[in-house]
Amino acid sequence: MPRFPELRPRRLRLTKAIRDLVAETALTVNDLIYPVFVREGINEPEPIAAMPGQYRYPVEKVTDIVSSALELGVKAFILFGVVPDEKKDHTGSYAYDPRGPVPRAIKAIRRDFGEEPLIFTDVCICGYTSHGHCGIPVEKRGRKLIDNDSTLEVISRMAVTHAEAGADFVAPSGMMDGMVKAIREALDREGFSEVGIMSYAVKYASGFYGPFREAAGSAPRFGDRRSYQMDPRNAMEAIKESMLDVEEGADILMVKPALAYLDVIRLVKESFPHYPLAAYNVSGEYSMVKAAAEKGWVDEKLVTFEILTAIKRAGADLILTYHALDVARWLREGY
Ligand code: PBG
Ligand code: ZN
Repeated sequence: MPRFPELRPRRLRLTKAIRDLVAETALTVNDLIYPVFVREGINEPEPIAAMPGQYRYPVEKVTDIVSSALELGVKAFILFGVVPDEKKDHTGSYAYDPRGPVPRAIKAIRRDFGEEPLIFTDVCICGYTSHGHCGIPVEKRGRKLIDNDSTLEVISRMAVTHAEAGADFVAPSGMMDGMVKAIREALDREGFSEVGIMSYAVKYASGFYGPFREAAGSAPRFGDRRSYQMDPRNAMEAIKESMLDVEEGADILMVKPALAYLDVIRLVKESFPHYPLAAYNVSGEYSMVKAAAEKGWVDEKLVTFEILTAIKRAGADLILTYHALDVARWLREGY
């Protein structure tokens, strides 16, 4: 009598020890970048309604959250500035003011923690423009356009301001053509050749940014972002966008959002295996998990690990996620 089945994959799943031994993917705190909102004009951390557990921090209290994160082993941060409407204008000029919330937050973090924290900054003007677009609108041939090249000048100055304040990496997110080259040239010209660029190379026009726009006060006041962010129907275009950013001098590439674009993460990783790839697990992805967990419909810890592990399995080397501190705590508890 033949013994059936002879091949039994279940042997490798029998105990936790064997599962851990043969696991193909690992998620660690070293892979995570924690997004932090810094708001000018408040005195206390302000909860973000659409993102349970996340806050806007006043400049002087950013160091509190950085300190808690460092204690948990989370060492990388990406800073977003939030400014009052009075500081906003058509070209987003406050974005490159050294007195703005992001440069001041960088200095406060460096003052308290020195070199240890890895500081990324989001470089885009949508939080600083009166119209909320990532580029400067102009009227041309009777049509409103987001002007590419004048925007490059503003974001280049913004990147230099962040570098001067002490940022390790700047992360342009506005999907303007040539943004990486313009910023690289500006940084080099001003003597910041050691400051890196993590490019939001492959950024889709997505409904998953909804909670972020509430958090950052950066929603467009007219139209949408489809004339500069990518069309979700396109995957091959991600190769073109990545290729251009590589040629322009990006150090790290990014795909954003993450969960609905796992195929794109895989494609970009396979096309540019020699570049670190980041994936942005965006606000809407975070808030969906929080909302379902609050209702008791999913196990928050279980689905969070499943999602972040999937993003790594798809090919991301690092993940920007609002779950970073939760994950660090869960890993510490011995998940
Ligand atoms: C600004 C920017 C956005 C995000 C990061 N940088 C919003 C947008 O493009 O509308 C989204 C982050 C998130 O949803 O968590 N250019
Ligand atoms: Zn923007």
